[in-house]
Amino acid sequence: MKQTELLAIIEKMSPKEKVDQLLQLAADFYTDNAEDRTGPMENLDINETTIDNAGSILGVSGAQKAIDIQKHYIENNPHNLPTILMADIIHGFRTIFPIPLALGCTWSKEAVEEMASVSALESSVSGLHLTFSPMLDLVRDPRWGRVLESTGEDPYLNSEFARAMVHGYQGDNLKEDMTKVAACVKHFAAYGGAIGGRDYNTVDVSETTLREKYLPSYHAAIEAGAKLVMTAFNTIEGVPASGNKKLFRDVLRDEFKFTGPVISDWAAIKEMINHGVAANEKDAARLAIEAGVDIEMMTTCYDKHLLELVEEDARYMDLLDESVLRILELKNDLGLFENPYRGADVEKEKEVILSDGHRESARKIAEKSMVLLENNGVLPLSKQEKIAVFGPKATTGDLMGAWSWQGKFDEVITIAEGLSAKGAHVTVSTENYELFENSEANLADAKQLATENDIVVLALGEADWMSGEAASRSDIKLPQSQIDLFNEVRKVAKKLVVVLINGRPLDLNAINEADAVLEAWFPGTEGGNAIANILFGDVNPSGRLSMSFPESVGQVPVYYNTENTGRPYESAPDEKYVSKYLDVSNYAKYPFGYGLSYSEVSYDDMTLSKDNGKIDDTIEVIVTLTNKSTRPVTETVQLYVRDLVAETARPLKELKGFEQVVLQANETKQVTIMLETKKLAYVHQDLSWSVDAGEFDLMVGPNSRELVFSKKLTLG
Ligand code: NOJ
Repeated sequence: MKQTELLAIIEKMSPKEKVDQLLQLAADFYTDNAEDRTGPMENLDINETTIDNAGSILGVSGAQKAIDIQKHYIENNPHNLPTILMADIIHGFRTIFPIPLALGCTWSKEAVEEMASVSALESSVSGLHLTFSPMLDLVRDPRWGRVLESTGEDPYLNSEFARAMVHGYQGDNLKEDMTKVAACVKHFAAYGGAIGGRDYNTVDVSETTLREKYLPSYHAAIEAGAKLVMTAFNTIEGVPASGNKKLFRDVLRDEFKFTGPVISDWAAIKEMINHGVAANEKDAARLAIEAGVDIEMMTTCYDKHLLELVEEDARYMDLLDESVLRILELKNDLGLFENPYRGADVEKEKEVILSDGHRESARKIAEKSMVLLENNGVLPLSKQEKIAVFGPKATTGDLMGAWSWQGKFDEVITIAEGLSAKGAHVTVSTENYELFENSEANLADAKQLATENDIVVLALGEADWMSGEAASRSDIKLPQSQIDLFNEVRKVAKKLVVVLINGRPLDLNAINEADAVLEAWFPGTEGGNAIANILFGDVNPSGRLSMSFPESVGQVPVYYNTENTGRPYESAPDEKYVSKYLDVSNYAKYPFGYGLSYSEVSYDDMTLSKDNGKIDDTIEVIVTLTNKSTRPVTETVQLYVRDLVAETARPLKELKGFEQVVLQANETKQVTIMLETKKLAYVHQDLSWSVDAGEFDLMVGPNSRELVFSKKLTLG
C-alpha cells in the first residue's frame, strides 16, 4: 500500500478508532472464552469494542489461534485493518538457544544471526509478526537480573550483534518473506545502567557516556532497519524514558533518523505518575504523546485521555495522526494488508517447531557459547575413567533461562542425559539435589559417588527465576548450600569438574579449588548435549566472556574499558594514595574476552600495514598465530586500541575489531583485522563524534588482559 492510501484510511477513521490503534493489549483479552476476558477487562476498564480494535496484541502464540484472532479482528474493525501480533522471543521460540549473554560469548555474528533466523521461522509459522528483541542494553552490573538478556559490556561487540540479530529476524525483504518477523530495539535508553543493579531503578549517566557507551548498539540496530523501538522503564536526567522528548524526538528521530513507531514498555506511560513527573493518567498521556511514543502497552492513558487532549488543543490531533500513520506503516511493512496471516501455518508449525535441524543449530550455538574458566588438565574427560554426575542442576530441564515462555522442561536435554549418551562410564545419582538445601541423604550420596569414581561432574547454579526481569541480587555467589556441597565433595573427589548454569557473572571464589569450571550459562534445549560434547572434547571450547566476572561484588561495576585515574594503581602499586581497594584487587576475576580451550595457541607476531595513517584510513593489523596442539581450535583474536592523548580521558583499551579463526592441529596462520580509523572516533565535549590526530596504541591478544603485542599508530 502506498502512503497516500494509508493516509486515506486515516482520514476515514473516527478519533476513537485512531486512539484504539495506539493501544496494545495482552493475549488473554483475546481468548475464545469471553469469561477469560473479565479479569483483565475489569482491571483496565475497557469495553469489548476497544478490545476488538486495539492496534496490536502481545503474547499470542499458536498458528490457529493467531489466524482466528486476526480473522475476528479484521471482520470487526470498521476499516478491516489487520492487527499486529507481537511477543517476547528473546533467544528462541520453542527451540531454546542460549541466553543472550551466552550468545555474546560466542563472539560469532553468524551464530547470533542463525539464532535469530531460527527464532523468526518458528515464531512466524506460529503466527507472530514481531519480536521484542534485540535487547541492546549495555550491562556492567551483574547484580541486575537482566544482564542475561544483553550481549554484554562492550559497545562495539554489542553493536555487531545488534546488526546480526536484526538481520536474522527480518532478513532482506520482510514484507514478502513470511519466514521473518520484525525486530524491536529495546530498551531505549540505558536501562542497563540501573543504579545498584536494582531493576527499574534510576539511571544517572553523563551524556558523553550515554552517547559513547549506551547508544551505539541501539543505533546500530536502527541502521540495520529494525522496525520498532521500545522505551525503557527508567529515567534519564530525571525524565522517564517514556516521556522523554530529548531521547525520542531529538536523538531517535532527528539524529538516528528512525521513522518507525515507538512502543512503551509494559505500563511505563502510566508509571510516570509514580516517577512523579505526571499528576495523573491524562498528564502521563500528554507527556508520552509529546515525546513521540506511539503505542501504549497494557495501560490505557491514551485510550482514556487522548481525546480530551485533542478537544482541548488541535495540536494533539496532529500527533495522534502521526502515530496512527506510523503504526499503519508498520502493518504495511509487514505485508499485513496483503496477507494478514503472514507465516501462520498449522501444518508447517508441526514440521518446523523443534525440528531436528533447529535442535542441531541450538546445540552448535550452545557449544560456541560456553566458556571454560578453569582447567588444570582434568578436561577433556576420558572414556576410560569412571565419572559421577550429580548436583542441583544435573538432572533438571531448568536450563533455558527466564525468557523462554514457549520452551518446555521435558524437551530439554539435561546434563545427565547428555553425559550418559556418550557411551562412557557415567553414573548419574538417583538422589534429589536441591538448589538451596542439602539433605543428609544427598551429602552421603555425594561423598560416596565422589569416592567410588575417578571424576565428579558437579552441576551447580541458579534457577531460571534467579535472573531475568525483577530478579536483581545483591549477593552474586552460589547459594551457600551449593558451596557446602562443593566443599564436602572436594574433600573426597579425586578430580572435580564444576558445570555452572546461571544467568549472570557470579562471584566464584568459593569454588577456586575445582579442577575445572565450565560456565555453561542457561544453554537452552540442547544444553546437556552441548555440555557433554565440550567435557568429552568432541568440541574444543571457544567461548570468550562478553562480560567481566568480578573478584567480589564490592568491585561492581568492574569492566574492562576503564579510563586511567590521575593516580593509577599500576604506576605505583606500593603507594598508599593510588586508586585501589584495601581489601580486593581492581581487576575482574575473569576479564572481558577471557576463555580457555584445550589447545595452546601462541601469538607469534603482529605487524601493521602502516604505522602512519590519515584520519580517514584503513589499517591492516596482521597477527600470526600457531596452534600448538593436535586438535583443531577456534581462536578469537582481539584488537584493542588506546588513544594516548585526547580531549577527554580515554579508556586504557577499547575493543575495535576481532577475528575468529579455526586453526588445524599444529597449524600456523596469519589473521588480518581491518581497522577503519573512523572506529577511533569518540564523543568530544561538544558531543560530536570525531577522530583525533595523534598517537594510538594498537594491542592484540587472546583477551582484554593478556595483550601480547602492542604497536604504535600515528594519525595525522
Ligand atoms: C516488560 C519488559 O521490560 C520488556 O522487555 C518486554 O518486552 C515487555 N515486558 C513485554 O513482555
